[in-house]
Amino acid sequence: MEKITVIGAGNVGATCANVIAHKDLAKEVVIVDIKEGIAEGKALDIWQTAAINHFNTRVTGSTNDYLKTKGSGVIVITSGLPRKPGMSRDDLIQTNAKIVKEVTEKAVKYSPHAIIIVVSNPLDVMTYAAYLASNKPSNKVFGMAGTLDTGRYRAFIADALNVSPVDIHAMLMGGHGDTMVPLPRYTSINGIPITQLLGKEELDKIVERTKKGGGELVNLMGTSAWFAPGAAAAQMVEAIVDDQKKVIPVCAYLNGEYGLKDVYLGVPVKLGKGGVEEIIEVDLNKDEKKLLSTSAEAVKDVMRVLDKMKLF
Ligand code: LAC
Repeated sequence: MEKITVIGAGNVGATCANVIAHKDLAKEVVIVDIKEGIAEGKALDIWQTAAINHFNTRVTGSTNDYLKTKGSGVIVITSGLPRKPGMSRDDLIQTNAKIVKEVTEKAVKYSPHAIIIVVSNPLDVMTYAAYLASNKPSNKVFGMAGTLDTGRYRAFIADALNVSPVDIHAMLMGGHGDTMVPLPRYTSINGIPITQLLGKEELDKIVERTKKGGGELVNLMGTSAWFAPGAAAAQMVEAIVDDQKKVIPVCAYLNGEYGLKDVYLGVPVKLGKGGVEEIIEVDLNKDEKKLLSTSAEAVKDVMRVLDKMKLF
């Protein structure tokens, strides 16, 4: 790919650009930030690792000059405030919705054909805001959460069983909040159902820890996480650039799938060069369906806050 843009040179944006460069996913990755010099500085710092870490992707930075992003194939939006201890992701909406709207409009102007991946919180509703601001079809605008949340879930299972996290395959659905729905029934170690290896009590604990995985890190560090969120967004970029048709949970626009309409929510999709190429509907039992609809309701509550802001 010619060019990839990462908006926001904070911890998540810089990490995402760094992983994109390490994977050599484009000729150039442009980091944009509103704060004078920060994007240029972080870009230069990453670029100076190229000779050391062996990659060729040019890393450049820009203070709010979107002309430099012109012709990007993928735009990753990470801008916005991160959480502080005691805050929920939803507390960020007032500030972050305005930011996401503004940066989306500016970026789309110069890259009308780009696929947009949203990482800003509250994730599901910020993805909706970017969709509205972009005027693009929903399969080209989606959010990163499931890759991160399954990454956490897989790490916890790897710890519990002392096995490789890479061998753990898992599906997780719902919003990127405490109502997310990890699915032990769709979790295996290279095909061996996890339910045969871990007892219900232990699995329940892992599911609960996963749901609050972001908050655990906010409490430890005083701000939200960045290594896993940045790497997870870069993995989605890779699936698009390499047209991998990767089946992963993505925050996608639902238009009747799973009985839900006009809401962005984490579901399994096929991700390739067309963006969300297919939404995959897996069988859910009664309990799982209930958890998913509770999660959709939680996202819709935050959507109502966005509606009241009358930004669109
Ligand atoms: C987290 C933030 C990025 O889950 O939402 O760590």
